[in-house]
Amino acid sequence: MNLGGSIKINKCAILSLIAFIVLLIYIFSPSSNSIDVPKSQQINLHKLVIGLILAAKSGGKEIINISKLADFDERSKGKTKEGANDPVTAADVSSHCTIANGLLRIFPSLEMVSEEDVKEKNCPERHETFDLDPSVLSSVKLPNVNIPIDDVTIWIDPLDATKEFTEKLFHYVSVMICVAVRGEPVIGVVHFPFSDTTFWAWSGIGVSENLPNIKGDHGTVKSPIVIVSRSHSGDVQELAKKMYGERVKVISAAGSGYKIIQVLTGNATVYLHNTHIKKWDLCAGNALVSAVGGRMTTLKSESISYGPESARLVEDGLLVELNKNVII
Ligand SMILES: *[C@@H]1O[C@H](CO)[C@@H](O)[C@H](O)[C@H]1NC(C)=O
Ligand SMILES: *[C@@H]1O[C@H](CO)[C@@H](O)[C@H](O)[C@H]1NC(C)=O
Repeated sequence: MNLGGSIKINKCAILSLIAFIVLLIYIFSPSSNSIDVPKSQQINLHKLVIGLILAAKSGGKEIINISKLADFDERSKGKTKEGANDPVTAADVSSHCTIANGLLRIFPSLEMVSEEDVKEKNCPERHETFDLDPSVLSSVKLPNVNIPIDDVTIWIDPLDATKEFTEKLFHYVSVMICVAVRGEPVIGVVHFPFSDTTFWAWSGIGVSENLPNIKGDHGTVKSPIVIVSRSHSGDVQELAKKMYGERVKVISAAGSGYKIIQVLTGNATVYLHNTHIKKWDLCAGNALVSAVGGRMTTLKSESISYGPESARLVEDGLLVELNKNVII
């Protein structure tokens, strides 16, 4: 018997077996490498950006239509009891239905989290629809990137600043849609229907021209302006003074989308919030802020994850700023 020989053969066989198993693991692992995932289970992010912009604009059209209803005034005084016939609910629901149904028609099996949880059968019979019209982004050159659809979660706020909508403070109202890829906010759209203004960003790829340049120097700020919520700004004023000194200027506004845009466009230095906030209020803005090199964290300096199973609520407050050098 040649023991040495048989050991050699076994070693060789074991090594081949290991190599084969490693290969199998590589092929079947849920990796982000889209080459491993069948085309039918991939999603094209370029098409998705276009879809998001069109969805947000269509949702916005629904909101505008409902704001013009004859009985909107009467019912929006704030004293009416909540119900299906409430124009506010109707605007939220119609916008949601337009966005969710429209996106699902083009991208079946998308995972979505929306502030409105409405079944398709409860959607109004008539609502805006849209097709994937690439001319909405024809002036920008974007790459074709495919990723596994299972990595994607869409966060939808069909009508941000609902209370202000009822008060006819329409400039605060926005529609926000976001693409999170494995929990990271990668694409965001914030659309203001009443001024027909749209901000979008695809992290690392491009941003709308009304946002600061990705690689731009965001400069120095000598007297910081802190923007806070108009509905609960008591303690947060004290917090702003503690953080930025007595000379800090505190302004208030409604809508997280609106406040984030005020920071991005330089009308405010920081957006500060010290109570709970929902993630559909943040995801799209977070994508915009990240794309231009700014920062959105909780007051404990933690970044926010937008995975499908993650908690819907951020409980530790919020801080949004560009990478400006703030002199106190
Ligand atoms: C919204 O209003 C416009 C203009 O009045 C109209 O053309 C459109 O059909 C309306 N959309 C819906 C869904 O009612
Ligand atoms: C920034 O503030 C100016 C002056 O108040 C205003 O006209 C402008 O609309 C604001 N920008 C945005 C994006 O809201």
